[in-house]
Amino acid sequence: MNFADLHCHILGCVDDGARDEKEMKEMLDIAYGDGIRTICFTPHFKLYEFSSVGEISSYNERISESFDTAKEYVSGKYPDMHLFLGSEIMYHHDISGSLSSSFCKSMAGTPFVLVEFDTNISFFDMRFASSALLRNGLRPIIAHVERYGCLIKNPKRLAELKDLGALIQVNASRIKKFAFGKVAGFLKYALKRSLVDFIATDAHRVSSSPPEIARAYGIVKKLCGVDYANKICCENAEKILNNGNI
Ligand SMILES: [Fe+2]
Repeated sequence: MNFADLHCHILGCVDDGARDEKEMKEMLDIAYGDGIRTICFTPHFKLYEFSSVGEISSYNERISESFDTAKEYVSGKYPDMHLFLGSEIMYHHDISGSLSSSFCKSMAGTPFVLVEFDTNISFFDMRFASSALLRNGLRPIIAHVERYGCLIKNPKRLAELKDLGALIQVNASRIKKFAFGKVAGFLKYALKRSLVDFIATDAHRVSSSPPEIARAYGIVKKLCGVDYANKICCENAEKILNNGNI
């Protein structure tokens, strides 16, 4: 099975992901070994962390350089691996403006945007933010939904977000065999009702959060069947990144 990862911090020397080129290459090796053949790099974009447009430009130059290095490495070693670029955007009121100013990126130039929120956000604010993005012609992919208390305590809210038009991403590392507790229960609820659209790695480091999907794929396959596992570990992400729709 070939997997597609649409949320990771593998680019080196950019954010809190890979610390240098060496670690980035090691992470690409791990991803390939795990069966990942499509990657969309999503460096963080938190507008409040910058104090000037110049700082944002330097950040984006580092991203471009690192992306070029990754492409060069992969084209020589793994020609069947496909790389794309996006951003993990911390929600702020004018994401459309940040995109049109090239401060951050949608997913591979499509209308899909990977968005994260403060983990303490209320459901009212999350729904309002998702609607605002949709009104502006953007499709939000809500990153690592298992982190938000407002969703964990009421998993039915995932369906409400999906009815609006938002898409749901879960981190592979949170899907574990024999897991107990609130988050595990939340994830089982979401997976069994096909409310998850993507499993991605959100990989940051070789040792602490490597880019691996295969183990989560096996668990989802057992729990929900092979068709759904294929969709959320590969097909949905491929559709977005290659065709700009789902
Ligand atoms: Fe992330």
